[in-house]
Formats: sequence, C-alpha cells, structure tokens
Amino acid sequence: MIYLWLKAGHIIFVIFWMAGLFMLPRYFVYHQEAEAGSPEEARWIDRENKLRKIILLPSIILVWVLGISLLGTGMVALGGWFHAKLLLVLLLSGYHGYLSGYARKLARGERPLTGKKLRLLNEVPGIAAAIIVVLVIVKPF
Ligand code: HEM
Repeated sequence: MIYLWLKAGHIIFVIFWMAGLFMLPRYFVYHQEAEAGSPEEARWIDRENKLRKIILLPSIILVWVLGISLLGTGMVALGGWFHAKLLLVLLLSGYHGYLSGYARKLARGERPLTGKKLRLLNEVPGIAAAIIVVLVIVKPF
C-alpha cells in the first residue's frame, strides 16, 4: 500500500518537475527578446526566480526523496533498466543545474546562448522523459 502511495507521489512531482524544465528555457527565449535593463527584462528575471524556487527546486527534491523511498520499500525488482534510468535522471538533474546557472547569468546581464540554441536545448527533457518512461514501464532489460 505504502509503495503505491509513494509511487503516486513520485509521478505527481515528476510531472511538476518536467513542467518546470519545459517552461524555464521557454522563459529564457522570451527574456532574451526583451531589451537589456528594461522593466520587461526585470519581470522575466522575477518569473524565472519564482519558477526555480517555487516549482523546480521542491519538485526535484521530492522526486528524488520519493524515488529513493520507493527503493527502500524493497518492492522494486532492480535490473539494467534501473541503472539506465538512474543515469538519465542524473543527466536530467545536471540539466536542471545548468538551467539554474543560466538563469543566474541572465540576471547578471549575460546572454550566452542564441534563441535557436535555447529552443534546441528545450528538446532535452522531452527526449529524456520519453526514454525514462519506456525504461520504467517496459523494463526492456
Ligand atoms: C530522481 C530520481 C528518481 C529515482 C531515484 C526514481 C526511482 C523510481 C523507483 C524506484 C520506481 C519504482 C519502480 C518499480 O516499482 O518498478 C519509480 C517509478 C517510476 N518513475 Fe522514477 N525515479 C526517479 C526519477 C524519475 C523521473 C525523472 C521520471 C520521469 C521522467 C520517473 C518516472 C517514473 C515512473 C513513470 C514510474 C512508475 C513506473 C511503474 O508504474 O511501475 N522517475 N521511480
């Protein structure tokens, strides 16, 4: 029973985390279209900070805590699929860290990537999530 509640919670916060990871680079694209130092830019910095602190940070913590708790129930048949998932989840966590660093750079007035590169970057979480879901549901190996 506890296993199912933990799994439900895990999936709920995975959804919030992924939603935040999809939104933040989108915000960056709009942010970079605003004139440097303008009130519009200040609004984007505020939105980015709120998204990071209210959605992304609590979600990544809860996804990890609930995921590790699921392992702790002893109900999970571990296999190669889990190692592959763990690798992807670590990469996704690194991507999250990279985005937070990028937000800090934007707030300092730097704009390291073009809008096109940011749009391409936005494909990362979708691809990672699709592979992770296949790994945990199909467990191909
Ligand atoms: C952050 C670290 C994560 C850990 C430690 C973790 C761990 C786990 C564990 C142990 C399970 C139970 C698997 C089973 O009973 O067969 C699980 C289920 C699941 N995880 Fe994660 N997970 C993490 C992140 C993610 C992410 C990022 C996604 C999706 C993008 C995800 C999607 C799922 C799904 C869909 C299930 C349900 C699978 C089922 O129905 O059995 N997890 N996770």
